[in-house]
Amino acid sequence: MSKREIIHLENIIKRFYVGQPNELEILHGINLSVYDGEFTSVVGASGSGKSTLMNIIGALDKPTEGQYTLDDVDVIAAKDEELSTIRNRKIGFVFQTYNLISRTTAIKNVEMPMLYKGMGRRERKERAEYLLEMVGMKERMTHTPDELSGGQKQRVAIARAMACDPAIILADEPTGALDSKTGRTVMDIFHRLNEESKKTIVLITHAPDLAEETGRIITLSDGNIVNVRVKYDADQYEESEPENTGETTGENSGTEEE
Ligand SMILES: Nc1ncnc2c1ncn2[C@@H]1O[C@H](COP(=O)(O)OP(=O)(O)O)[C@@H](O)[C@H]1O
Ligand SMILES: [Mg+2]
Repeated sequence: MSKREIIHLENIIKRFYVGQPNELEILHGINLSVYDGEFTSVVGASGSGKSTLMNIIGALDKPTEGQYTLDDVDVIAAKDEELSTIRNRKIGFVFQTYNLISRTTAIKNVEMPMLYKGMGRRERKERAEYLLEMVGMKERMTHTPDELSGGQKQRVAIARAMACDPAIILADEPTGALDSKTGRTVMDIFHRLNEESKKTIVLITHAPDLAEETGRIITLSDGNIVNVRVKYDADQYEESEPENTGETTGENSGTEEE
C-alpha cells in the first residue's frame, strides 16, 4: 500500500547573492519526499541549512534550482501572489519565537488566517474556539500574547497553524525556547495532530530525544542530507527511499550537534 506524496523536492539548490562576488550556495541538491500522514524530523547543526530548507518547503522562499511539488501544486511555477494562497491554505507554520500578533487576543490570532481566507465571522470564531480548546487554551482565549507564558503562546501558535486545516504543519524549532517540560506538552500536541487529525508534520529540532519520537529522522549537514533514518512504519513509505542522500546506514545517528 503506497502513500500519497505530499512534498516532493528534487535537486533543490539554494544560493544567496546570486551573480555577486559573495555568492553563497547553502543547499546543494536536496532530494526529499514526505508522504501524507508522516511525522518527520529534520536535525543538524546550527547553520546546516534547516531553516533555509523549511522556508522553501513552506513556500516562503523559492529555490535557485530544482523542482518542488506541494500537495500536487507546482510551487516553482506559481506566481508570487499564488504563493501566499498556497501558504495560507496548505501550510501551518510554527516558529520558535511564536510569531503571534501582539496586543491581539489569542482567539483573534487564531482567526487571522481564516479571515484572510474569507471565512465568515461566526464560522471563524467557532473554529478558533474549537482549536484553542484542542490545545488546552480555551480559558485564556481572550488573553493577549504578553499575558501568556512561552508554552501557552506556542499552543496558541499551533492552534493558529491549524486554522485553515493545512495539508502540512512545518515547525522550526518549536520547543527551542521552552523548558523541557513545556516542550513535552508541545510535542504531545504534535503527536495528537499527527495521530488524530492525520496531519503531516515536518519538525525541525535541536533536541535528539524529540527527533527520536518521530517516524523518520533526516540529518542535514552543510546543506546536504547526510542521513535518513526510518524509525517506524518503514513499509508505509516504501516508495520514498530518497535518492542521492549519501549514506543511510545510520553512521551519523547519535551525533547530532548542540
Ligand atoms: N537570507 C540569507 N542570506 C544569506 N545567507 C543566508 C540567508 N539565510 C541563511 N543564510 C546562511 O545559510 C546558512 C544556513 O542557515 P539556516 O538555514 O538558517 O541554518 P539552520 O536553520 O540549520 O541553523 C547559514 O550559513 C546562514 O548564514
Ligand atoms: Mg534555523
